[in-house]
Amino acid sequence: MKKNKKKMIILGIETSCDETSAAVVRIANYGLRITDCEILSNIVFSQIAIHKKYGGIVPEVAARNHVKNIIPVIDLAFKKARVTPKDIDRIAVTYGPGLITSLMVGVEAARNLAYAWKKQIIAVDHIKGHIYAAWLASQEFPISNFQFPILVLVVSGGHTELLLMKNVKSFKKVGQTLDDAAGEAFDKVAKMLELGFPGGPAISKLAEKGNPQAFDFPRPMIHSKDFNFSFSGLKTAVLYKNKESRIKNKEYINNIAASFQQAVVDVLAHKTIKAAEKYKVKTLILGGGVAANKLLRETMRQETKRLGIPFIVPEIKLCTDNAAPIAVAGFFGKEILWKKLRVDPQLEIE
Ligand code: KG4
Ligand code: ZN
Repeated sequence: MKKNKKKMIILGIETSCDETSAAVVRIANYGLRITDCEILSNIVFSQIAIHKKYGGIVPEVAARNHVKNIIPVIDLAFKKARVTPKDIDRIAVTYGPGLITSLMVGVEAARNLAYAWKKQIIAVDHIKGHIYAAWLASQEFPISNFQFPILVLVVSGGHTELLLMKNVKSFKKVGQTLDDAAGEAFDKVAKMLELGFPGGPAISKLAEKGNPQAFDFPRPMIHSKDFNFSFSGLKTAVLYKNKESRIKNKEYINNIAASFQQAVVDVLAHKTIKAAEKYKVKTLILGGGVAANKLLRETMRQETKRLGIPFIVPEIKLCTDNAAPIAVAGFFGKEILWKKLRVDPQLEIE
């Protein structure tokens, strides 16, 4: 077993939305299973403060800030990891899905560095980054114990997907949202309630003080036979409730936040567990920005316990966009010639 050991140091770059991030990750592998995955550095420059005043992400502003920050962020990642470009084996970069102009900044940086430093370049699907973040949650559950098939729920600002993994490199989409993503629903409801951007953290904070049964919001598609989701009707239900309510004190806002959050979590948990049963999976992974939600994490933990399967969720800072999981995904990815690398904003997982 030892002779198959492969060690790699990978530079990960992530600029698909509003976070400029670079990470250096050291990976030691035996065959197809990573046994050791160590983050040497993970720098995230978040633009939230910049976009807050616009109430959402402004693509052009995001791209301009990526341009300004990408080199200092990469530089800092090397310094913190105490490595030099000579030490790295590969550069892994997010090439989609995401905002085209944001993606271009990371991809151009990676292309230039790969050419100048004569390094392999690996184009990474952002969604796979959210999935492989679980490979960094190993203190809680060692990666060598991961049992396939694995079901993954990816919930972010742009995606809500259920994916089945037969092995470490195979992904089959078994469900997805037909309209808004879960994070998008959080962001839009927060906007209605004038809670600012991003909405998820604001809503989940207020929800802690509210009554989740105060309003009986719909649980769209909870009993549909497929594993798809829909959050746009729920968002509209909150909009109408908010329009007809005359008194909008703190208690009311807390109750709306708690009832809305409960509806989202009920649907996500119910359908995920149904899919886990149908596909007889042996492990459940939760990833993406919405995986930072306490109620969702707790509910999934309880439900998987009931089902008797291990549940893996990365620590919160690895759930939202960052480059460390992109580096891990780069370990499993195929090399692409720097000349051929293009961004793909609409990229779909194969
Ligand atoms: O994965 P991510 O950082 O970026 C995308 O790939 O979209 O996810 C961002 C999304 C936002 O919609 C944000 O509101 C949501 O994740 N989010 C949360 C929480 N923290 C972030 N949603 C619910 N509860 C949270 N605690
Ligand atoms: Zn993301």
